[in-house]
Amino acid sequence: MKNRVVMITGASKGLGRALTLAFAKEGAKLAICARTEKSLQMVKREAEAFGTEVLAITADVSNVRDVERFIATAENAFGRIDVLINNASILGPSPMPMLLDYPEEDFAEVLRVNVVSAFLVTRRVIPGMLERNDGAIINVTSEAGHTGYAGWGAYGISKFAIEGLTETWADELRHTNVRVNMIDPGEMNTEMHRLAVPDCDYPLANPEDVVDTFLQLASAEIHGQRFEAQAEGEA
Ligand SMILES: NC(=O)c1ccc[n+]([C@@H]2O[C@H](COP(=O)([O-])OP(=O)(O)OC[C@H]3O[C@@H](n4cnc5c(N)ncnc54)[C@H](OP(=O)(O)O)[C@@H]3O)[C@@H](O)[C@H]2O)c1
Repeated sequence: MKNRVVMITGASKGLGRALTLAFAKEGAKLAICARTEKSLQMVKREAEAFGTEVLAITADVSNVRDVERFIATAENAFGRIDVLINNASILGPSPMPMLLDYPEEDFAEVLRVNVVSAFLVTRRVIPGMLERNDGAIINVTSEAGHTGYAGWGAYGISKFAIEGLTETWADELRHTNVRVNMIDPGEMNTEMHRLAVPDCDYPLANPEDVVDTFLQLASAEIHGQRFEAQAEGEA
């Protein structure tokens, strides 16, 4: 990963923060974004402590102009993007309502942030990757995007869409060296999980425990696959 340019959306906390620090430790240059300036800047400083360059842009990935600004700034700063991790995501209302009671505006907002934004960012990043015929795109999915569970509402449905988006991009790019894959990180101890399962009474992985699968996939010659992250210490 030394000097590779890695773009991560939703890097101010949780898995995005852990990925930023893991790739920084491997010597990658980072372009990260999130909506909350203060926590994003803290992650930038933590990652810079590994001696690498970090560009941190406050941006909402569901806003086309923010996406354009984020990617253009990153390409100007680093000249290219080698790896894109579409990580930013929201849960929607907590506690999660059943579909019959799901507010329409929330439903649309979850799909916009979780799915449309990944499409927007990917579409803007791919031309540079195709020009160099090299790149890796990793989308973040969930068990809730593989099986429909009662009460997982728009969030689960958005992850089904992420899986479709991944497979479709992968098929459209199958004759190139731009690899599109997805990872289900498994249940992790993050703010999103606390909102999803507030009364959780079983042990959870920390986001730091699942980063290895992302590090490996970022440079692997693998195309169109779905992986489940293996938490550190798991058999
Ligand atoms: N935690 C789990 O158990 C679990 C399980 C399976 C899959 N996942 C997936 O793993 C990924 C990370 O989840 P997490 O648990 O780390 O969530 P998290 O702790 O809630 O962090 C989400 C990140 O996304 C950012 N974000 C949200 N909306 C954004 C927007 N519109 N524009 C830019 N950034 C945005 C947040 O920052 P700001 O609020 O500052 O914007 C934050 O940095 C997600 O794709 C999630 O679906 C999580």
